[in-house]
Amino acid sequence: MPVTLDRRHVTDALDGADRAALDARVLDAHRRVLDGETASPDMLGWRQMLLAPDDALLENVATVAAEIRERADVLLCIGIGGSYLGAEAVMEALVPPFSGDGPQILFAGHHLGPDYHRRLFEHLDGKSVYVNVISKSGTTLEPALAFRLARRFLEERFDDADRRIIATTDADRGALHDFAVARGYRRYVVPNDVGGRFSVLTPVGLLPIAAAGIDIRTLFYGAVAEARELTDADASHPALQYAGDRFAFHEAGYATEVLAVMDPRLKGLGAWWQQLFGESEGKEGKGLFPVVLQYTTDLHSVGQYVQQGQRTLVESFLRLDDAGQGLAVAEEDGDPDGLNYLAGTPYGTVNEKAYQGTAAAHAEGGVPNWTVTLPRLDAETVGRLIYFYEHAVAVGGTLLDVDPFNQPGVETYKQKMFSLLGKP
Ligand code: PA5
Repeated sequence: MPVTLDRRHVTDALDGADRAALDARVLDAHRRVLDGETASPDMLGWRQMLLAPDDALLENVATVAAEIRERADVLLCIGIGGSYLGAEAVMEALVPPFSGDGPQILFAGHHLGPDYHRRLFEHLDGKSVYVNVISKSGTTLEPALAFRLARRFLEERFDDADRRIIATTDADRGALHDFAVARGYRRYVVPNDVGGRFSVLTPVGLLPIAAAGIDIRTLFYGAVAEARELTDADASHPALQYAGDRFAFHEAGYATEVLAVMDPRLKGLGAWWQQLFGESEGKEGKGLFPVVLQYTTDLHSVGQYVQQGQRTLVESFLRLDDAGQGLAVAEEDGDPDGLNYLAGTPYGTVNEKAYQGTAAAHAEGGVPNWTVTLPRLDAETVGRLIYFYEHAVAVGGTLLDVDPFNQPGVETYKQKMFSLLGKP
Protein backbone atom coordinates (compact mmCIF):
# COMPACT_ATOMS: atom_id res chain seq x y z
CA MET A 1 0.00 0.00 0.00
CA PRO A 2 1.42 3.36 -0.99
CA VAL A 3 2.64 6.23 1.13
CA THR A 4 0.26 9.19 0.82
CA LEU A 5 0.70 12.96 1.12
CA ASP A 6 -1.94 15.33 2.47
CA ARG A 7 -1.29 18.89 1.27
CA ARG A 8 -4.36 20.62 2.69
CA HIS A 9 -2.26 22.83 5.00
CA VAL A 10 0.25 23.94 2.38
CA THR A 11 -2.01 24.97 -0.47
CA ASP A 12 -2.91 28.42 0.98
CA ALA A 13 0.73 29.24 1.63
CA LEU A 14 1.67 28.30 -1.93
CA ASP A 15 -1.31 30.05 -3.49
CA GLY A 16 0.78 32.63 -5.32
CA ALA A 17 3.13 30.05 -6.86
CA ASP A 18 2.79 29.22 -10.54
CA ARG A 19 2.03 25.51 -10.14
CA ALA A 20 2.26 24.64 -13.79
CA ALA A 21 5.74 26.17 -14.02
CA LEU A 22 6.78 24.46 -10.79
CA ASP A 23 5.46 21.08 -11.97
CA ALA A 24 7.41 21.44 -15.19
CA ARG A 25 10.64 22.08 -13.25
CA VAL A 26 9.92 19.15 -10.94
CA LEU A 27 9.27 16.83 -13.86
CA ASP A 28 12.49 17.94 -15.51
CA ALA A 29 14.47 17.21 -12.31
CA HIS A 30 12.62 13.89 -11.97
CA ARG A 31 13.50 12.95 -15.54
CA ARG A 32 17.14 13.79 -14.86
CA VAL A 33 17.11 11.39 -11.90
CA LEU A 34 15.51 8.67 -14.04
CA ASP A 35 17.88 9.23 -16.96
CA GLY A 36 21.07 9.59 -14.93
CA GLU A 37 21.56 13.26 -15.79
CA THR A 38 21.93 14.63 -12.28
CA ALA A 39 25.10 15.99 -10.72
CA SER A 40 27.36 12.99 -9.91
CA PRO A 41 25.42 10.69 -12.29
CA ASP A 42 27.68 7.84 -11.21
CA MET A 43 26.07 7.97 -7.72
CA LEU A 44 22.61 6.73 -8.68
CA GLY A 45 23.24 3.11 -7.65
CA TRP A 46 20.68 3.39 -4.81
CA ARG A 47 18.04 3.52 -7.57
CA GLN A 48 19.62 1.14 -10.10
CA MET A 49 19.96 -1.63 -7.51
CA LEU A 50 16.17 -1.57 -7.00
CA LEU A 51 15.46 -1.82 -10.71
CA ALA A 52 17.65 -4.94 -10.95
CA PRO A 53 17.33 -6.66 -7.56
CA ASP A 54 20.15 -9.00 -6.53
CA ASP A 55 18.14 -11.81 -4.92
CA ALA A 56 21.27 -13.90 -4.30
CA LEU A 57 22.72 -11.10 -2.19
CA LEU A 58 19.51 -10.79 -0.16
CA GLU A 59 19.58 -14.53 0.41
CA ASN A 60 23.23 -14.49 1.43
CA VAL A 61 22.70 -11.65 3.91
CA ALA A 62 19.70 -13.49 5.39
CA THR A 63 21.82 -16.63 5.86
CA VAL A 64 24.63 -14.83 7.67
CA ALA A 65 22.04 -13.00 9.79
CA ALA A 66 20.49 -16.35 10.73
CA GLU A 67 23.89 -17.54 11.97
CA ILE A 68 24.24 -14.38 14.06
CA ARG A 69 20.75 -14.87 15.49
CA GLU A 70 21.60 -18.43 16.41
CA ARG A 71 25.07 -17.86 17.89
CA ALA A 72 25.20 -14.31 19.27
CA ASP A 73 23.87 -12.72 22.41
CA VAL A 74 24.90 -9.36 21.01
CA LEU A 75 25.55 -8.03 17.52
CA LEU A 76 27.73 -4.94 17.81
CA CYS A 77 27.30 -2.69 14.77
CA ILE A 78 30.15 -0.26 14.33
CA GLY A 79 29.56 2.69 11.99
CA ILE A 80 28.51 6.33 11.84
CA GLY A 81 26.28 8.54 9.66
CA GLY A 82 25.00 6.64 6.66
CA SER A 83 26.76 3.54 7.94
CA TYR A 84 24.51 3.43 11.00
CA LEU A 85 21.37 5.61 10.87
CA GLY A 86 19.41 3.52 8.35
CA ALA A 87 19.77 0.27 10.27
CA GLU A 88 18.82 1.93 13.53
CA ALA A 89 15.82 3.61 11.88
CA VAL A 90 14.37 0.41 10.43
CA MET A 91 14.92 -1.52 13.66
CA GLU A 92 13.28 1.19 15.76
CA ALA A 93 10.30 1.13 13.41
CA LEU A 94 9.86 -2.63 13.12
CA VAL A 95 11.20 -4.35 16.23
CA PRO A 96 8.43 -4.15 18.82
CA PRO A 97 9.49 -2.25 21.93
CA PHE A 98 10.01 -4.32 25.10
CA SER A 99 10.49 -7.51 23.07
CA GLY A 100 13.41 -9.86 23.68
CA ASP A 101 13.59 -11.95 20.52
CA GLY A 102 17.06 -12.57 19.00
CA PRO A 103 20.41 -11.00 19.84
CA GLN A 104 20.64 -7.57 21.35
CA ILE A 105 21.73 -5.14 18.62
CA LEU A 106 24.06 -2.47 19.95
CA PHE A 107 25.96 0.34 18.25
CA ALA A 108 29.49 1.65 18.66
CA GLY A 109 31.63 4.18 16.84
CA HIS A 110 28.59 6.38 16.13
CA HIS A 111 30.05 9.04 18.44
CA LEU A 112 33.15 9.56 20.57
CA GLY A 113 31.50 9.32 24.00
CA PRO A 114 34.16 8.00 26.40
CA ASP A 115 31.78 6.74 29.07
CA TYR A 116 29.50 4.98 26.56
CA HIS A 117 32.33 3.01 24.99
CA ARG A 118 33.84 1.99 28.33
CA ARG A 119 30.52 0.76 29.69
CA LEU A 120 29.63 -0.93 26.41
CA PHE A 121 32.62 -3.25 26.57
CA GLU A 122 31.96 -3.94 30.25
CA HIS A 123 28.41 -4.91 29.27
CA LEU A 124 29.69 -7.23 26.51
CA ASP A 125 31.96 -9.18 28.84
CA GLY A 126 30.77 -12.78 29.24
CA LYS A 127 28.44 -12.61 26.24
CA SER A 128 28.67 -14.22 22.83
CA VAL A 129 29.47 -11.23 20.60
CA TYR A 130 29.51 -10.78 16.82
CA VAL A 131 30.74 -7.55 15.24
CA ASN A 132 29.62 -5.92 11.99
CA VAL A 133 32.05 -3.11 11.21
CA ILE A 134 30.65 -0.81 8.53
CA SER A 135 32.64 1.93 6.83
CA LYS A 136 32.62 2.69 3.14
CA SER A 137 35.86 4.67 3.26
CA GLY A 138 37.31 2.38 5.91
CA THR A 139 39.09 5.34 7.45
CA THR A 140 36.44 7.22 9.46
CA LEU A 141 37.89 7.86 12.90
CA GLU A 142 34.87 7.10 15.10
CA PRO A 143 34.23 3.54 13.80
CA ALA A 144 37.94 2.82 13.31
CA LEU A 145 38.60 3.54 17.00
CA ALA A 146 35.67 1.43 18.15
CA PHE A 147 36.69 -1.41 15.85
CA ARG A 148 40.18 -1.48 17.31
CA LEU A 149 38.60 -1.93 20.77
CA ALA A 150 36.12 -4.54 19.51
CA ARG A 151 38.80 -6.53 17.71
CA ARG A 152 40.94 -6.80 20.80
CA PHE A 153 37.87 -7.66 22.87
CA LEU A 154 37.00 -10.57 20.56
CA GLU A 155 40.57 -11.80 20.08
CA GLU A 156 41.10 -12.00 23.85
CA ARG A 157 37.96 -14.07 24.36
CA PHE A 158 37.12 -16.19 21.34
CA ASP A 159 39.12 -18.77 19.35
CA ASP A 160 36.93 -18.00 16.34
CA ALA A 161 37.26 -14.19 16.66
CA ASP A 162 37.86 -13.70 12.93
CA ARG A 163 34.68 -15.62 12.10
CA ARG A 164 32.72 -13.31 14.41
CA ILE A 165 33.74 -10.19 12.50
CA ILE A 166 31.92 -9.17 9.32
CA ALA A 167 33.26 -6.13 7.48
CA THR A 168 31.06 -4.03 5.22
CA THR A 169 33.26 -1.73 3.20
CA ASP A 170 34.55 -0.70 -0.23
CA ALA A 171 34.98 -3.45 -2.84
CA ASP A 172 38.69 -3.01 -3.26
CA ARG A 173 40.31 -0.25 -1.24
CA GLY A 174 40.66 1.42 2.14
CA ALA A 175 42.25 0.46 5.43
CA LEU A 176 39.28 -1.66 6.54
CA HIS A 177 39.15 -3.47 3.20
CA ASP A 178 42.85 -4.30 3.30
CA PHE A 179 42.69 -5.40 6.93
CA ALA A 180 39.62 -7.58 6.34
CA VAL A 181 41.24 -9.26 3.35
CA ALA A 182 44.45 -9.91 5.32
CA ARG A 183 42.50 -11.48 8.19
CA GLY A 184 40.06 -13.37 6.00
CA TYR A 185 36.98 -11.75 7.53
CA ARG A 186 33.67 -12.25 5.80
CA ARG A 187 33.01 -9.13 3.75
CA TYR A 188 30.13 -7.24 2.20
CA VAL A 189 30.55 -4.46 -0.31
CA VAL A 190 29.25 -0.90 -0.12
CA PRO A 191 28.74 -0.28 -3.83
CA ASN A 192 30.82 2.54 -5.32
CA ASP A 193 27.76 4.18 -6.78
CA VAL A 194 25.82 4.36 -3.49
CA GLY A 195 26.60 7.11 -0.96
CA GLY A 196 26.45 6.40 2.76
CA ARG A 197 23.09 8.07 3.41
CA PHE A 198 21.54 6.16 0.49
CA SER A 199 22.95 2.80 1.59
CA VAL A 200 20.36 1.39 4.00
CA LEU A 201 19.11 -1.14 1.42
CA THR A 202 22.64 -2.43 0.72
CA PRO A 203 24.36 -4.80 3.19
CA VAL A 204 25.24 -1.67 5.20
CA GLY A 205 21.73 -1.69 6.61
CA LEU A 206 20.46 -5.09 5.54
CA LEU A 207 22.74 -7.28 7.65
CA PRO A 208 21.96 -5.62 11.01
CA ILE A 209 18.29 -5.34 10.04
CA ALA A 210 18.09 -9.04 9.16
CA ALA A 211 19.93 -9.93 12.37
CA ALA A 212 17.17 -8.08 14.22
CA GLY A 213 14.69 -10.57 12.73
CA ILE A 214 13.18 -8.28 10.08
CA ASP A 215 12.26 -9.69 6.66
CA ILE A 216 14.75 -7.84 4.45
CA ARG A 217 13.30 -9.20 1.23
CA THR A 218 9.93 -7.61 1.96
CA LEU A 219 11.66 -4.38 3.02
CA PHE A 220 13.75 -4.31 -0.15
CA TYR A 221 10.84 -5.16 -2.43
CA GLY A 222 8.73 -2.43 -0.79
CA ALA A 223 11.36 0.02 -2.02
CA VAL A 224 11.38 -1.70 -5.41
CA ALA A 225 7.61 -1.15 -5.71
CA GLU A 226 7.97 2.56 -4.89
CA ALA A 227 10.88 2.95 -7.32
CA ARG A 228 8.91 1.28 -10.13
CA GLU A 229 5.89 3.43 -9.39
CA LEU A 230 7.98 6.58 -9.51
CA THR A 231 9.51 5.54 -12.81
CA ASP A 232 6.11 5.96 -14.45
CA ALA A 233 4.94 8.88 -12.30
CA ASP A 234 3.61 12.25 -13.33
CA ALA A 235 3.78 15.46 -11.26
CA SER A 236 0.90 14.32 -9.06
CA HIS A 237 2.98 11.59 -7.39
CA PRO A 238 3.25 12.39 -3.65
CA ALA A 239 7.07 12.23 -3.62
CA LEU A 240 7.24 14.74 -6.50
CA GLN A 241 4.61 17.01 -4.97
CA TYR A 242 6.57 17.00 -1.73
CA ALA A 243 9.82 17.80 -3.56
CA GLY A 244 8.13 20.59 -5.52
CA ASP A 245 6.46 22.15 -2.47
CA ARG A 246 9.70 22.07 -0.49
CA PHE A 247 11.50 23.82 -3.33
CA ALA A 248 8.76 26.47 -3.55
CA PHE A 249 9.03 27.12 0.20
CA HIS A 250 12.81 27.33 -0.06
CA GLU A 251 12.54 29.89 -2.86
CA ALA A 252 9.98 31.85 -0.81
CA GLY A 253 12.54 32.23 2.02
CA TYR A 254 11.55 29.44 4.42
CA ALA A 255 14.61 28.10 6.24
CA THR A 256 13.69 25.04 8.34
CA GLU A 257 11.70 21.87 7.83
CA VAL A 258 10.46 20.13 10.94
CA LEU A 259 9.63 16.45 10.51
CA ALA A 260 7.16 15.68 13.29
CA VAL A 261 6.68 11.98 13.94
CA MET A 262 3.42 11.02 15.62
CA ASP A 263 4.68 7.66 16.96
CA PRO A 264 7.97 7.05 18.78
CA ARG A 265 8.68 4.09 16.49
CA LEU A 266 9.11 6.59 13.65
CA LYS A 267 11.72 8.72 15.40
CA GLY A 268 14.67 6.76 13.96
CA LEU A 269 13.27 7.18 10.45
CA GLY A 270 13.12 10.89 11.22
CA ALA A 271 16.80 10.88 12.22
CA TRP A 272 17.64 9.02 9.00
CA TRP A 273 15.55 11.55 6.97
CA GLN A 274 17.40 14.37 8.76
CA GLN A 275 20.77 13.11 7.55
CA LEU A 276 19.46 12.31 4.07
CA PHE A 277 18.10 15.81 3.50
CA GLY A 278 20.72 17.71 5.51
CA GLU A 279 23.74 16.19 3.78
CA SER A 280 22.14 16.11 0.35
CA GLU A 281 20.80 19.67 0.17
CA GLY A 282 22.69 21.74 2.74
CA LYS A 283 25.48 23.22 0.63
CA GLU A 284 26.34 26.37 -1.31
CA GLY A 285 24.28 28.37 1.19
CA LYS A 286 21.10 26.47 0.20
CA GLY A 287 18.65 23.94 1.63
CA LEU A 288 15.98 23.73 4.31
CA PHE A 289 17.54 22.84 7.68
CA PRO A 290 15.98 19.47 8.64
CA VAL A 291 14.93 18.88 12.23
CA VAL A 292 13.11 15.85 13.60
CA LEU A 293 10.67 16.18 16.50
CA GLN A 294 8.49 13.61 18.23
CA TYR A 295 4.91 14.65 19.00
CA THR A 296 3.21 14.98 21.31
CA THR A 297 6.37 14.82 23.47
CA ASP A 298 8.02 17.82 21.81
CA LEU A 299 4.81 19.87 21.75
CA HIS A 300 5.61 20.29 25.44
CA SER A 301 9.11 21.59 24.69
CA VAL A 302 9.63 23.35 21.34
CA GLY A 303 5.92 23.30 20.43
CA GLN A 304 5.77 26.88 21.67
CA TYR A 305 8.42 27.91 19.13
CA VAL A 306 6.71 26.08 16.30
CA GLN A 307 3.43 27.86 17.09
CA GLN A 308 4.76 31.37 17.64
CA GLY A 309 8.51 31.67 16.95
CA GLN A 310 10.17 32.94 13.76
CA ARG A 311 7.90 32.29 10.78
CA THR A 312 10.50 30.52 8.66
CA LEU A 313 9.32 26.96 9.39
CA VAL A 314 7.55 24.38 7.31
CA GLU A 315 6.51 21.12 8.89
CA SER A 316 5.85 17.61 7.69
CA PHE A 317 3.96 15.20 9.87
CA LEU A 318 4.81 11.54 9.57
CA ARG A 319 1.93 9.47 10.89
CA LEU A 320 0.46 6.00 10.87
CA ASP A 321 -3.08 5.16 9.91
CA ASP A 322 -3.71 3.56 13.28
CA ALA A 323 -6.47 5.59 14.88
CA GLY A 324 -8.55 3.11 16.83
CA GLN A 325 -5.60 1.05 17.99
CA GLY A 326 -4.10 0.56 21.44
CA LEU A 327 -5.44 0.40 24.96
CA ALA A 328 -8.77 2.07 25.53
CA VAL A 329 -9.63 4.37 28.43
CA ALA A 330 -11.82 2.65 31.04
CA GLU A 331 -14.87 4.28 32.66
CA GLU A 332 -14.38 5.07 36.38
CA ASP A 333 -17.01 5.65 39.04
CA GLY A 334 -17.16 9.28 40.11
CA ASP A 335 -14.84 10.37 37.25
CA PRO A 336 -12.06 11.33 39.72
CA ASP A 337 -9.64 12.58 37.03
CA GLY A 338 -12.29 13.96 34.66
CA LEU A 339 -11.41 11.50 31.89
CA ASN A 340 -14.74 9.70 31.56
CA TYR A 341 -15.52 11.72 28.43
CA LEU A 342 -12.84 9.54 26.82
CA ALA A 343 -14.23 6.23 28.11
CA GLY A 344 -13.94 3.60 25.41
CA THR A 345 -11.57 5.73 23.32
CA PRO A 346 -8.33 4.01 22.33
CA TYR A 347 -4.89 5.66 22.45
CA GLY A 348 -4.72 5.67 18.66
CA THR A 349 -7.76 7.91 18.46
CA VAL A 350 -6.45 10.34 21.08
CA ASN A 351 -3.14 10.51 19.20
CA GLU A 352 -4.98 11.10 15.93
CA LYS A 353 -6.94 14.02 17.40
CA ALA A 354 -3.70 15.45 18.78
CA TYR A 355 -2.23 15.28 15.27
CA GLN A 356 -5.27 16.86 13.62
CA GLY A 357 -5.44 19.64 16.20
CA THR A 358 -1.71 20.34 15.94
CA ALA A 359 -1.67 20.41 12.14
CA ALA A 360 -4.56 22.90 12.13
CA ALA A 361 -3.06 25.04 14.92
CA HIS A 362 0.35 25.22 13.28
CA ALA A 363 -1.17 26.10 9.91
CA GLU A 364 -3.17 28.90 11.57
CA GLY A 365 0.01 30.03 13.31
CA GLY A 366 1.81 30.42 9.97
CA VAL A 367 3.55 27.03 9.67
CA PRO A 368 2.46 25.35 6.44
CA ASN A 369 2.44 21.58 6.85
CA TRP A 370 2.07 18.36 4.93
CA THR A 371 1.19 14.96 6.28
CA VAL A 372 2.91 11.83 5.06
CA THR A 373 0.84 8.79 6.05
CA LEU A 374 1.95 5.19 6.25
CA PRO A 375 -1.06 2.87 5.91
CA ARG A 376 0.59 0.52 8.42
CA LEU A 377 4.00 -0.03 9.97
CA ASP A 378 5.54 -3.08 8.32
CA ALA A 379 8.64 -3.95 6.30
CA GLU A 380 7.01 -3.28 2.93
CA THR A 381 5.77 0.17 3.87
CA VAL A 382 9.05 1.19 5.48
CA GLY A 383 10.83 0.10 2.27
CA ARG A 384 8.44 2.26 0.27
CA LEU A 385 9.01 5.25 2.56
CA ILE A 386 12.79 4.92 2.25
CA TYR A 387 12.61 5.19 -1.52
CA PHE A 388 9.96 7.93 -1.34
CA TYR A 389 12.39 10.17 0.57
CA GLU A 390 15.47 9.12 -1.44
CA HIS A 391 13.76 10.03 -4.69
CA ALA A 392 12.34 13.26 -3.27
CA VAL A 393 15.76 14.42 -2.09
CA ALA A 394 17.44 13.53 -5.40
CA VAL A 395 14.81 15.63 -7.19
CA GLY A 396 15.00 18.34 -4.51
CA GLY A 397 18.79 18.67 -4.70
CA THR A 398 18.58 18.80 -8.49
CA LEU A 399 15.96 21.59 -8.28
CA LEU A 400 18.28 23.51 -5.95
CA ASP A 401 21.11 22.99 -8.44
CA VAL A 402 23.39 21.37 -5.85
CA ASP A 403 24.99 17.92 -5.99
CA PRO A 404 22.71 15.79 -3.78
CA PHE A 405 25.29 13.01 -3.61
CA ASN A 406 28.37 14.70 -2.17
CA GLN A 407 29.14 16.08 1.31
CA PRO A 408 32.25 18.25 1.01
CA GLY A 409 31.40 20.18 4.20
CA VAL A 410 31.84 17.11 6.41
CA GLU A 411 35.61 17.19 5.81
CA THR A 412 36.20 20.55 7.49
CA TYR A 413 35.67 19.40 11.08
CA LYS A 414 37.75 16.29 10.40
CA GLN A 415 40.74 18.32 9.21
CA LYS A 416 40.65 20.55 12.30
CA MET A 417 40.17 17.57 14.64
CA PHE A 418 43.03 15.61 13.04
CA SER A 419 45.34 18.59 13.27
CA LEU A 420 44.50 18.96 16.99
CA LEU A 421 45.10 15.22 17.49
CA GLY A 422 48.50 15.47 15.76
CA LYS A 423 47.66 13.03 12.97
CA PRO A 424 50.82 12.55 10.87
O1 PA5 B 1 26.33 9.74 4.03
C1 PA5 B 1 27.55 9.71 4.13
O2 PA5 B 1 28.28 9.56 3.15
C2 PA5 B 1 28.21 9.84 5.48
O3 PA5 B 1 27.29 10.05 6.49
C3 PA5 B 1 29.00 8.58 5.79
O4 PA5 B 1 28.12 7.49 5.79
C4 PA5 B 1 29.70 8.68 7.15
O5 PA5 B 1 30.53 9.81 7.16
C5 PA5 B 1 30.52 7.42 7.42
O6 PA5 B 1 31.43 7.21 6.40
P1 PA5 B 1 32.11 5.80 6.20
O7 PA5 B 1 31.07 4.81 5.88
O8 PA5 B 1 33.06 6.00 5.06
O9 PA5 B 1 32.84 5.46 7.48
